[in-house]
Amino acid sequence: MIDLAELPTCTKCALSLTRQRVVVGSGSLESMLTIVGEAPGKTEDEGGEAFIGRSGRLLFQLVLEELDMTREQCFVTNVVKCRPPANRTPRPSEIATCQPWLEEQLRVSRARFLLALGNTAARAVLGFTEGIGATHGRVVTLGTVQALATYHPAAALRGGPSVVDVMRRDLAVLKKLLDP
Ligand code: URA
Ligand code: SF4
Repeated sequence: MIDLAELPTCTKCALSLTRQRVVVGSGSLESMLTIVGEAPGKTEDEGGEAFIGRSGRLLFQLVLEELDMTREQCFVTNVVKCRPPANRTPRPSEIATCQPWLEEQLRVSRARFLLALGNTAARAVLGFTEGIGATHGRVVTLGTVQALATYHPAAALRGGPSVVDVMRRDLAVLKKLLDP
């Protein structure tokens, strides 16, 4: 049995030794849309909320413009709930150890749509083996949930307007699923 009430004090992997806060996720599990990123960054580790730094500002600007939804209308979380040192990519063992928390969040959630951000989430949640460049915008069905992946907003902050444009097109695909 896994109890989400125990997530804020989890010490199942070594990321617990260097984190400040476990970032459980924010918004409502009653929401129609779950957004899954990679791992908390510095701002999130300090603030205890998902996507509250620069990546989050860009993400929720695009979500508002393309989906007409606010942060509060989504449930937003990450594949791993604790910040990896210096924002390195989470290790496969860390992802595997943390996975039951996300699975339980998805199990109790009412969401019917899921957006995975970047390679780590696309692989861990959607099971894609190819890179995000090949898989973004592809709709897959996971039980009762329709899901797709797009670039991580941090990639758009590095890559500029062309990456933002691809994210907008992927979000437009999601918008058609939300409002057929
Ligand atoms: N990047 C992520 O993947 N998640 C966050 O919560 C913040 C930045
Ligand atoms: Fe627990 Fe996940 Fe944090 Fe590791 S990353 S300590 S498994 S909550």
